[in-house]
Amino acid sequence: MPSNQPQTIYLSDYKVPAYLVDTADLRFELFEDGARVHSTLAFRRNPDCQESQETGAPLQLHGDSLKLESLVLNGEAVATSNYSVSDELLTVNQVPQHFTLQVVTWIEPQNNTRLEGLYKSAAMFCTQCEAEGFRCITYFPDRPDVMARFSTRIEADKTAYPVLLSNGNPVEQGDLSDGRHFVTWEDPFPKPAYLFALVAGDLLEKQDSFTTMSGRKVDLRMYVEPRNSEKCEYALDSLKRAMAWDEQTYGREYDLDIFMIVAVDDFNMGAMENKGLNIFNSSCVLASQETATDMAFERIESIVAHEYFHNWSGNRVTCRDWFQLSLKEGFTVFRDTQFSGDMGSATVKRIESATVLRTAQFAEDAGPMAHSVRPASYMEITNFYTLTIYVKGAEVVRMIHTLLGPDLFRKGSDLYFERHDGQAVTTDDFVKAMEDASGRDLGQFRLWYEQAGTPQLAISDEYDESAGVYHLHIKQTLPDTPGQTDKQPQHIPFALGLLGSRGEALALALSAEELAKADAPQERVLELTEASHSFEFHGLSERPVPSLLRHFSAPVRVSYPWTREQLLFLMNHDSDGFNRWDAGQRLAIDVIQQMIGAPKDVTVDARLVGAFRHLISDADLDQALVAKMLVLPTVAYLAELTDGADVPAIHRARRRVLKHLAIALRDELVACYRRNIDSGPYQLGPEAVARRSLRNTALAWLLLINDEEGRSLGLGQYRDADNMTDRMGALKAFVNSGYDDDRAASLNDFYQTFQHDPQVVEQWFSVQAASRRTGQLSHIHALLEHPAFDWKNPNKIRAVIGAFAGQNLVNFHNPDGSGYQFLADQVCKLDDSNPQIAARLVSPLTRWRKFAPEYSQQMQAALMQIRDKENLSGDLYEVVYKSLAD
Ligand code: PHE
Ligand code: ZN
Repeated sequence: MPSNQPQTIYLSDYKVPAYLVDTADLRFELFEDGARVHSTLAFRRNPDCQESQETGAPLQLHGDSLKLESLVLNGEAVATSNYSVSDELLTVNQVPQHFTLQVVTWIEPQNNTRLEGLYKSAAMFCTQCEAEGFRCITYFPDRPDVMARFSTRIEADKTAYPVLLSNGNPVEQGDLSDGRHFVTWEDPFPKPAYLFALVAGDLLEKQDSFTTMSGRKVDLRMYVEPRNSEKCEYALDSLKRAMAWDEQTYGREYDLDIFMIVAVDDFNMGAMENKGLNIFNSSCVLASQETATDMAFERIESIVAHEYFHNWSGNRVTCRDWFQLSLKEGFTVFRDTQFSGDMGSATVKRIESATVLRTAQFAEDAGPMAHSVRPASYMEITNFYTLTIYVKGAEVVRMIHTLLGPDLFRKGSDLYFERHDGQAVTTDDFVKAMEDASGRDLGQFRLWYEQAGTPQLAISDEYDESAGVYHLHIKQTLPDTPGQTDKQPQHIPFALGLLGSRGEALALALSAEELAKADAPQERVLELTEASHSFEFHGLSERPVPSLLRHFSAPVRVSYPWTREQLLFLMNHDSDGFNRWDAGQRLAIDVIQQMIGAPKDVTVDARLVGAFRHLISDADLDQALVAKMLVLPTVAYLAELTDGADVPAIHRARRRVLKHLAIALRDELVACYRRNIDSGPYQLGPEAVARRSLRNTALAWLLLINDEEGRSLGLGQYRDADNMTDRMGALKAFVNSGYDDDRAASLNDFYQTFQHDPQVVEQWFSVQAASRRTGQLSHIHALLEHPAFDWKNPNKIRAVIGAFAGQNLVNFHNPDGSGYQFLADQVCKLDDSNPQIAARLVSPLTRWRKFAPEYSQQMQAALMQIRDKENLSGDLYEVVYKSLAD
């Protein structure tokens, strides 16, 4: 057992804070060898805390890696007998009802490799305070239910740090001696410390503005390193779209006079919603036609929107405690996916969300780290920024939207914002507002927040020809998860349609009476609340084909004995685009699974080839949807669907199907490629994006079978590309092809061209690390030795180690165990500098039980090796111990 085994924290132990902070006045002196933080806090006893009211509980402030320089209470130094300092807490034993505490701490941002609190990224200072980073800056009640009005004075060298930023509005600035200067900021909105931010650097400012619905003009500013001057436009445009959308869709207006975005290269996550001062990982905000792919543009738009939306769902109304994290994250992801759907294609967005959910969140929910949307306990909160909290949390909000309908949902969100503005609340408060506004009972629905695991729906049906009645039976089960067994059935909205033999939508009459009225709808949302249901559909003159769980109306697994004929039929006829895509996926899965370990003479079902031929050739189909439908289910998803998975075998089967399709459809692919060449100027609209996507898919398939015409198309595309999607598409195709010389030449050229741009170098790293061909361990080691690799930069670590373990499954799951060993070594190395990243990186090993014994034993051994590391961090401890537990 390591000595620093973290404590488990329980939701059931929640207590209101003993003391509240009305104002926090901070003064930062920034130097090259450290920073001095002067904090003046106005405290008072919390009227809602009995203990503090009656007996005057001691004052306890969080602190981490701080050097306390002075402590003054109401103007007098606190006697040493009246306070004590531990690694985590500063305790003052006796304090009055109201008092002012002045704390001075010394910290070392230049040595902060964890990137929590105040740290240096290249030549700039910046902060990351969520979830518990503020305590690395100064002593404070660092919990989200303590909300204070902050003012921040920053002092620094004027030449090196001309730009000094914090939350709120700038109220004063001036020069100091020794070439230093200061700026003071005031944030009028009380906020928890996790939303505090500070930035200091030599940054370029891009200005824009937005006029709100009530006619206020808001200054929009983006701050970047000067070399990124040309990469700001898309983020600022996305921001304005998001601001307008939140006004239209939720009636939410921005509340300060200035809104700032800063890009930093070293950042643990994607971005952070600090009040008025959002800080972004450069890779999630900087973009230009030449350097960002279509996917990157899409991601930037959604993350910019996400952080902006937090101003209401997160900042104005925040979380009472970190168990409620999904209150802000689930709701905000729901809002940003709605937004992205409205900006582009809602169906395509839905496919993307469902893919993440089914591939990665379902895996998390079936593994050792499974937890509910509102967890009951945790050790390290940083380990709970998970897909379950974010995307399953968003699905839960989406189901409320489906159950209530858009109008009542809006009424509910209005009530929620009105009722809780300025408060720190719980997921239950959110559900309550939805209930009160709609009159619906969401009692059973709340189980979605409490029970972990993915519900499984087993569906069967029969058709009674003589009565003209179709019977649909749905059984719901919820698997056990760590610490949770014997779960209750959940309230599941199940959207459904029925198709007639000509592909037409049939009326869904649930009873003879409804049939008589002749106005039954063609789509219904059935509400499942019991362990098993049977539904009857009347007035059907033939056996229908069911279109189940339309739009993926709930985050559940569905099993139904589809025949391949039914899937082909749905692919062509379902009026729900999502289910057309889903039918294609299920068909492909069925075909690939049949190929696993199959003898050479087993051939790929000709009907799959026919279906793909139709998709590739019919230019009248929705091309954006077709682009998605052509993507075969990934190895990761196929593995997720399999117990005792043998990843290399799955990979070979998938490849066999892919090659068979490419050979059979070779001429159609060339034609599709040529049809989709864009001659005009670069555009970012959905049609142009779909064309590039189709063309790149066609190219990748052609190069997979070493097609000479494909090769010359690819070389031309790489050479003439005026945008990163085309250039990267060609590069990727060569990297994964058998054309060794072209691969080497294009990788080399790419690096020479873009070596000065870290965001592009990241892409260069990850395309190699994720490739079956270039992602052999010897090459991965070489990438780690490359001069552009940087152990202190999370993006580079993710681009090489993360891409290898997370996307290059066939090499990671090398039967000799070398991939696991490699990951264990890197994780241990990283744990000393950045435990948060180390704990995230280890996740591919955590599901070791899922794989065939020859793999799982070696994965387990790698985890044990990490467990036995000296000075294991709390972050890694939690993940590794939970993964190894029985
Ligand atoms: N709250 C951030 C978001 O919008 C994520 C984040 C969490 C960033 C913790 C940094 C640290 O999703
Ligand atoms: Zn968020």
